[in-house]
Amino acid sequence: MTQATRTRRHVLFAAGAVATALAMPFTASAQAPIVVKFSHVVAENTPKGQGALKFKELAEKKLPGKVQVQVFPSSQLFGDAKEMEALLLGDVQLIAPSLSKFDRYTKKLQVFDLPFLFDDIDAVDRFQATKTGQELLTSMKSRGLVGLAYWHNGMKQLSTNKDKLQRPDDVKGLKFRIQASDVLEAQFRALGANPQKMAFSEVYQALQTGVVDGQENTWSNIFSQKFFEVQKTIAETNHGLIEYMVVTNAKWWDGLPADIRQGLSEAMKEATAYANKLALDLNEADKKKIMDAGKAKIQKLGKEDTAAWRKSMEPVWKKFEGDIGRDLIDAALKANS
Ligand code: SIN
Repeated sequence: MTQATRTRRHVLFAAGAVATALAMPFTASAQAPIVVKFSHVVAENTPKGQGALKFKELAEKKLPGKVQVQVFPSSQLFGDAKEMEALLLGDVQLIAPSLSKFDRYTKKLQVFDLPFLFDDIDAVDRFQATKTGQELLTSMKSRGLVGLAYWHNGMKQLSTNKDKLQRPDDVKGLKFRIQASDVLEAQFRALGANPQKMAFSEVYQALQTGVVDGQENTWSNIFSQKFFEVQKTIAETNHGLIEYMVVTNAKWWDGLPADIRQGLSEAMKEATAYANKLALDLNEADKKKIMDAGKAKIQKLGKEDTAAWRKSMEPVWKKFEGDIGRDLIDAALKANS
């Protein structure tokens, strides 16, 4: 082969490679599935962990080859401090924070943190299904967030590293880890305790090392995070709840092709029914596992004990009524009947 032929072949090959490279992105992007990153902070064996996996299964079944859902549990990708920002920046497409963690975006969701507001999760479910409850899902749209569903976890219990935990006086002066919620901060101040806002991923170590004396959470979180191994007593207070909103980036969601948005909405609806049905049983099963482990004592409360906790926490309602709105509180209360 002459030098001239070699050069011509080389030029032709290079031109072909450029043409292929130029054509590639279009071919690839036409076929590449839309990646939906779903980040959350709890373990997989929890109501939210299971809900996220169910959503992945359903979404990929309904939209084969069109979407790929990647689930990142246990703050692996983003923890409490960063997940909302990551969603707004487009680094993830779905998160499901506890309703206590939206203070920076809306004051309305604080209604869910008012102590002793809901009798049980069925009442929460009824309220969320009302027009008022559904409107809260889109109440942060101007801030770039849109709620796709509410997911249940369960009622909160109180735990400490002390032997006695029956009446409000037993927590006076103790340090408690709380979620990033001003209502929860006020709740512990009303009890004469010292609340400390802290990311979920840091709680176990804070309890273990005595940075805080106690915390409040559901049975499934107390079990899956092993809090029961580093606490002496868990009082069955049922004084509040941990509920989630599955939220997405409003711009990303609105920009999806209609068939994809439809498929994802259907998958979300079915995953919600699945996760919410599971929540109660999972919490009950985890309570039993904690009892069986015999590490922390479970303190049952009598009617008078509960009345004392309720009375001590009552001032919180007045403090936040202005921000939340009396109408919203009344609408939530109505769901108890
Ligand atoms: C969660 O259930 O997502 C975490 C709740 C917490 O921060 O305590």
